[in-house]
Order: sequence, then structure tokens, then C-alpha cells
Amino acid sequence: MPVIIKENNVFVLETKNTHYVFGIDCLGYNRHIHWGKKCDTNDYCMQRIGDENSNHSMLDEYKQEYTVFGSTMFRECDLKVEFSDRCREIRLEYRGYEQDGDILKLNFADVYYPLEVTLNYQVFDNTDIIARWVTIKNTGSETIIAERLFSAEFSLPSVKPYTFTNTNGAWGAEFLETSNLLDGGNLIFESRRGGSSHNNSPYFIAHQNANEKSGAVYFASLAYSGNFKVAASRDLYGITRVSIGMNDFDFEYSLKGGESFDAPKVYCGLAEGFGDMSRQMNRFAVDHLLPKQFAHKPLPVLFNAWEAVDFRVNCENQTELAKIASDIGVELFVMDDGWFGNRKNDWAGLGDWYVNKEKFPNGLGELIKNVNDLGMDFGIWLEPEMVNADSDLFRAHPDWAYHYDTRKASELRHQLVLNMTKPEVQEYIFTVMDELLTENNIKYIKWDMNRPYSETGAENLENPKMLWYLHIKAVYDIVDKLKEKHPDVAFEACASGGGRADLGAMSHFDQVWTSDNTDAIDRMVIQKGYSRLRPIKAMRAWVTDPGWYKFSSLQFRFNIAMQGSLGIGGNLSKYSAEELEICKQNIALYKEIRDIVQFGDLYRLLDIDEDEVLMNQYVNSDKTKSVVFIAANGTRFFKKRIPLRFDGLDPDKRYTFKFFNDEIEKSGSYLMEVGIPAHIRGRDYNTIIVIEEKK
Ligand code: DGJ
Repeated sequence: MPVIIKENNVFVLETKNTHYVFGIDCLGYNRHIHWGKKCDTNDYCMQRIGDENSNHSMLDEYKQEYTVFGSTMFRECDLKVEFSDRCREIRLEYRGYEQDGDILKLNFADVYYPLEVTLNYQVFDNTDIIARWVTIKNTGSETIIAERLFSAEFSLPSVKPYTFTNTNGAWGAEFLETSNLLDGGNLIFESRRGGSSHNNSPYFIAHQNANEKSGAVYFASLAYSGNFKVAASRDLYGITRVSIGMNDFDFEYSLKGGESFDAPKVYCGLAEGFGDMSRQMNRFAVDHLLPKQFAHKPLPVLFNAWEAVDFRVNCENQTELAKIASDIGVELFVMDDGWFGNRKNDWAGLGDWYVNKEKFPNGLGELIKNVNDLGMDFGIWLEPEMVNADSDLFRAHPDWAYHYDTRKASELRHQLVLNMTKPEVQEYIFTVMDELLTENNIKYIKWDMNRPYSETGAENLENPKMLWYLHIKAVYDIVDKLKEKHPDVAFEACASGGGRADLGAMSHFDQVWTSDNTDAIDRMVIQKGYSRLRPIKAMRAWVTDPGWYKFSSLQFRFNIAMQGSLGIGGNLSKYSAEELEICKQNIALYKEIRDIVQFGDLYRLLDIDEDEVLMNQYVNSDKTKSVVFIAANGTRFFKKRIPLRFDGLDPDKRYTFKFFNDEIEKSGSYLMEVGIPAHIRGRDYNTIIVIEEKK
């Protein structure tokens, strides 16, 4: 994938379909030139801008790749530091570029202070995704304190306002989409809770009336699981800019002499419609982002006993559930919360990662053997970053939780957050988990995290404001180290549901828990928001028992859960023979189609909110197979006689499939342009169509 470097310091990143162009002007400023369709590369140049008047310097009008604080640049900046003499101005000069394969680095240095700043860009073969991040280096001996350290800045091409789509969710209602027209002023999406959270998402999606199939969509997603900030603004000149990176809320990073720091990566791209955007990011995540061990392997069908027995796990009830799970085709049996310490409910036990002998008198080995003998792998739940006050760990090390001696620490779910910046805490977590994995045949860890941080005293740190970053780094480091030592163990990131479902987590964990809300009707919306900029195969989706608030049949629940990596979470011991048969058949079907779902292209064809019908189609890469999920929860006014029009097929291939009692054979072009008639009605309408190329 070429990086074209033109004379006069103009750089063109050529992706599959786009050009991303920037350069250095004669004053040494980094300037953004173009992000869009490919043009004649000879034409790209730096346009001259002069001072407007004494209140608006030309710097106000600059579109920059990265803005540092200082001079007459009054708008949002990406980097603000304090030097040892308390000077807070940065004045960079350009020092040249380096190219190493697909990575381009533009080097800058402060004209006076020992600060180097490198803007990094990486392009990837056959995609339109570009990775961007910044590196700062202290080449002196005195500490430099960064108060703001974003990863990248983007300028959008049109002078007309853009709409920003993000999520505005909560626990049990993750990934609910929100759209805001940014006409003027600033728009912020952020997390201040320690994790990337259930609320906003660490990305931007900017467009002007785009839809699933058309309209330019600019997007960028931050690979970071901590506090983040997406700061968009539109100025008087109609320039829309977006900065994205670690949140500067209560943030500092002390860079000692000789140290350098890489800010988290941002993955950005340009798409034609939201569908194309999601497909680009989905493919990119599988090929370049998810940990290599499992990225290209289909994820197993799992059973998780949390909703069936909550904390009341024991060898008998887990074995009983395991027998039924194996019978219906489950491949991985996961024991959730409750197996350790004095864990009877959520008041006690977190931190004591040794097996509860009352529940498992013969240790974990007996259950694991039972599960393995049934032909399934075994997985287990931990919440390593947390501690209950009522635990041996906390009694022994009360200073291991974040706290201020002068303040009472707030408990949420009766638990406190461990100070992950302490090496002894990291060592403890690594050691207990390493021993657990060494002594037992465990193939899967569900790493949970059930509360935001508060009273974040970390007096062990010279600069306690670094805790936000160091905490997340410790989580990533421990997971990486465990994976290196136990390469056949898959990890799932869970945070009270979908509170840690960001691309940072997905660079270390193999999958994420989407939401504790497993109600199939709500999941139609939750999964749509998830699918915007997150990989489908990483999305764990369970079939559970009804009873949250609404009715949906077992078949309906399978229809929805099969649109991600399927899991079963219901209380199987209460299922009738007929219900177990439904499970068996659906799991068998899922195993046939999971390659298409987990690795294929998703087309969101009908939307449950806008169209009253959900229709999602997944197509494999050579367009020989496709699976379509259709579901509706009660259409109104008897009106849903509609042609089902498909997408993503090869117009010239002929396809066959069964639709209720009809055997259908049509060309791809017919199916996409004309479609087949359907009458969608009833409160529990659901069907799955498997389309295959006619041989
Ligand atoms: C929250 C998770 O999201 C659930 O799936 C479950 O693991 C519970 N924690 C266990 O405490």
C-alpha cells in the first residue's frame, strides 16, 4: 500500500479507495489537506492562508493533523504540557519524516525545550482503514507533564454541518444510538468512569444525511478501554474538526527524562454508507486487531450458568447443567460468579481467588473433568480488578484498593476497585490467574469489571493522576502475559455487560460481553448499535429465559442470539424435551452458518425501529453463501406485505433457498433488485433463510 511523498513535504496515504493527504507548510506547521476520493496526486499542494484580523489569526483557520497548545491557536488542542520551568507553550518545528514499510512518521521537536512529537500513520493492504497515533519523547532530564494527550485530530471536508452519531447508553441499554447535528460550538462524547463505559462510545461517526447504503461517512475509533474524549467542533469558517484520545479529565502523564510514550491508536476510515463502514471495520478487526490466536477461528457455542443459578454454583448443579448443555451441542461450558472464597452473594469474596471448598469439596478438578468427559471445554469467571471489603484479600491489604485516608471509599455492588497501578497488586492477580490456568484445564476466562472507579487515591504514584492510564495498561499487560503463557486460553472482556466493548479491549481480549440485558427484543437495538464499529464475532449473544419484561419465543431468541457468537444462558434444567430439541436444532444450524456470521459481511436491510422489522443479512467473502435473519415483534395496521430485497450477493450467480414452504431459485440480481414477497405479521415473527449458490 503506497505512501506517496511529494516534493514540498506533502504526504499522500493511498488506501484501497481513498487518499488521506497532509503536509508541512513553509512555517513548519502540520496541515491537513484532503481526506476523500483519490485525486491526481500531482495536484495536492499546501494552500496559503493569511491572517484574518487581529482577533483571528490564520492559525484559527488551519486544518491541522495535530494541534499543540500555544501561540495564537485558541481552539481545542491535542497536546498540552508543562515544562519544568512552568512554561506551558509548545512551539514545534518539523524535523523530517521516516518511512518503515506501511508506517509513516513525521517528526517534530520543540524549538527550545527537550520535547519531541511524532505523528504516526499506518496503512493496511486492501483496506481504507488508517491507524493514527502520536508519540511524545522527553529528550532532556527534567520531567515534562502532559495535561492533555490526545491521539489524533481530524478535519472534515465540507463547510456544511455534519451529524455525529454516537451511543448514549447505560447498563442494560448499551449502544443505543444518538445523532447530533453540529452546527456550531462543541460536542463532546466521553467517559470519566475509568472504563470506556456503557454510555458514550470512544469513536466518531460523522456524515451528512448518510444512510445504510449511501453517503460519505467519516469515522474513527479509539483503541483504548479507559476514560476517553471525542471533542468535535464547528467554527465560524464552517470547519468541523474532531480530536480523539484519552480524556484530559483528571489526567496527567509525567514523562521523565529519556522516556517516550505512545498514545493509544485511533483507527479511521471513510465509507459509502453505514453498512460499508461496519463491514470495513469488521473485516479490519478480524484481520488486524483481534488477538491472533483466535481471530480467524470460529468461536465456540458456549453455555454460561449465571442466569440459571447466579451465585449458587456447586459441582452438582454445574455438572447437571453441563450434561444437558453437551447434549444440545454446546462446546464450551463456562462457570460464572460464585465459585471462590466466601462468595454467597455480591457482598463478599471478590479478591479471594481460591476455590470454595463447601461448593467444590474436591476442588475444581472434579467439575472440569466432568465437563471434559462430556466433550466440552471449560471456562471460568473472575473479576480481577475488584475486591470486597469482606474478603481475606482486603483484610490483609486494605491499602490495595484506591482510597484517600481522609475519605470514605464509596462501594458500588459492595465492592472496591483495586489499585492496579501497584506492582504488588499486578503480581498478585497475575500469579493467582497463572496458577489457576496452570493447575486446571481451563480454556476460557471471562474477565469481569462491575463498577466505575471512585476516590481514586493512588499515593504510591509520584503523579497520582496517571492512574487512569496505568490502570488500563496493567489490565492489558496481565492479559497479554497470561495469553503468552497460556496461548490456548481465550479471554472475554465483560464489564457489567457491555462496559468494556471498545477496540482497545478487543486488541487484547478475544471477545466481549455485550449487555446483561439478554431480552431478545431489546437486543435487536443493542446489537445494531454494537455492530456499527465493532466486530461481529467478538459480540457474545446468549439465548436466555424470558421474563425480563417481554415475551419472545425460544425460536425468536435464537434468531437474535445467532447474529453474533452464540451462547446459551437459560436454565436448561427447567427446559422441556421439546424446548431442548429447539435448542439442539438451532445450535446445529448455527454451527453450519457461524462462519458466515462471524467472518462474513453484514448488511442491515430492515431496521426494527424504522421499519418494524429487523432484517440482517450476512454474506461470506466469495458470495456463495448467505444467511438472513428476519424478526418482528408485532407489525401494525396489517401492512407488512413487503418484498424482501437482499444485498451483498453476486448479481450473476444463481441462488437457491427455502422460504417457509417455498423452494426458491433466483439470480443474485433478481434477489437484490426485485426481492421475494413476504407477509410479516404476528408478535413473534422470526425466520432464518440460508441462501446458497446453485451448483
Ligand atoms: C456482570 C456480568 O455482566 C454478568 O454476565 C455476570 O458475570 C455477573 N457480573 C456476575 O457477577
